[in-house]
Amino acid sequence: MDTEAPPVVLALMMALELRFAELYMAASRSSESVDMKEFWARMSRQEESHAGYIDRIRKIYINAPEKFKIGSRFNPVILKSWLSEIGSAASKVKSGEIGPAELLSIASEYENTLMEKNYGEYLISDDAEYLALIGKITSDTAVHGKILRDKITETGSGA
Ligand SMILES: [Fe+2]
Repeated sequence: MDTEAPPVVLALMMALELRFAELYMAASRSSESVDMKEFWARMSRQEESHAGYIDRIRKIYINAPEKFKIGSRFNPVILKSWLSEIGSAASKVKSGEIGPAELLSIASEYENTLMEKNYGEYLISDDAEYLALIGKITSDTAVHGKILRDKITETGSGA
């Protein structure tokens, strides 16, 4: 089996989005202020939406693979290691080993890494629905990176 086939990579990306949703929901539950609970819950809901968008992209791909070209390669091994890393961060948030301030900088780093790795450029296509979905994921991820950095500044927890 070709483990780098796009449906396999897309399934891993979808799992990664759900792992982010889990991490942010754990952060919401462990936050004390209503403001921070809502902040993380909103981030978590967006990651859940991204998982849905990637699922939809996977279906578009399966129906018409000829519409797509591979852009920047994504190694499934790297995706799997992120999955376990984010899963372990979620467990540490649940156990209190990672506190709220530390989590802000960890999350900010993850979101920025995804942007740097051109996560949104894995597949190239001019399919309109694909472009709308991937555009939304990419812009949300950029916004997440920015609002996390702003939160770090605002709470003084990054310095
Ligand atoms: Fe996301």
